[in-house]
Amino acid sequence: MPLPDAMVEPLAETAYAKINVALHVRARRDDGYHALESLFVFAEDGDRITGEATDDGAINLVVDGPFGSGLEAGPGNLVVKAARGLQAYLGEQRGAVIRLTKNLPVASGIGGGSADAAATLRLLTRLWDMRIDPQELTALALDLGSDVPACLASVTQLVSGRGEHFARHQIDDLDGRPMLLANPGIAVSTAQVFAGWDRVDRGALDAGNLERLIAGRNDLEQPAIAIAPAISDVLNMLGQQPGVRLYRMSGSGATCFALFHTQADCSHAANALAKAHPSWWTMETRIRGA
Ligand code: C5P
Repeated sequence: MPLPDAMVEPLAETAYAKINVALHVRARRDDGYHALESLFVFAEDGDRITGEATDDGAINLVVDGPFGSGLEAGPGNLVVKAARGLQAYLGEQRGAVIRLTKNLPVASGIGGGSADAAATLRLLTRLWDMRIDPQELTALALDLGSDVPACLASVTQLVSGRGEHFARHQIDDLDGRPMLLANPGIAVSTAQVFAGWDRVDRGALDAGNLERLIAGRNDLEQPAIAIAPAISDVLNMLGQQPGVRLYRMSGSGATCFALFHTQADCSHAANALAKAHPSWWTMETRIRGA
């Protein structure tokens, strides 16, 4: 027997947190963006997007969750921009009521708005039951932000260019690996961090295996630390934790991450950080598998 309408669950998508295991900045491009080489992985956790279709064509957003306050729900929100962009591209007459539950800190180098935008595109194509050519979807995504195309699939990928080139990439020992995210409670502007890059190309990224990734870098760490020195404290603390395999800042910061040998090591580190720095935000998670 079909459920009465009121009992139908709204569709839901997770906007998985994005982590740059390494991020090499190679050049500043003529269009103002930077040419990057990065290994993106995704956490099993993130923001939550739910939605229901409406007949009036309007896009309405409600924002809640631990980091929901201070985030506007109007036309400037990337979720609204993504919904409107997709609606216009499809010539879709229906609208949607969307709820964004913001579990991740904003402007923190772990995808945030980009993952939300990508999850919105996934959600609405399901909600409106539409098909869209993958290349067209990528173009729509790139219009919303450099990281949005790779956030569509939210699996481990090698990303280059400004973010328009992305390919699935398998690395042994990464899927399911325990990961701790830590942020000192400071929002940093991506544009400002890129502007502080010293324009020195330190070489290509080798993402052949975990050992080579450990030898990699995040070239945005130094300019981000210049803006938010507390990032150094987070990195030092992560580096001292037993069982840590790789630790680094993600994206343009200020969130840093550490990969651990075991879940117990990860939990131990989460407790140590929470005890020493109660004001820091931390999240114990795992790398999302393919
Ligand atoms: O593409 P997105 O809107 O996420 O980028 C935000 C800002 O980050 C850009 O305006 C630009 O200043 C900087 N950026 C960059 N090179 C990239 C990605 C972002 O310079 N590859």
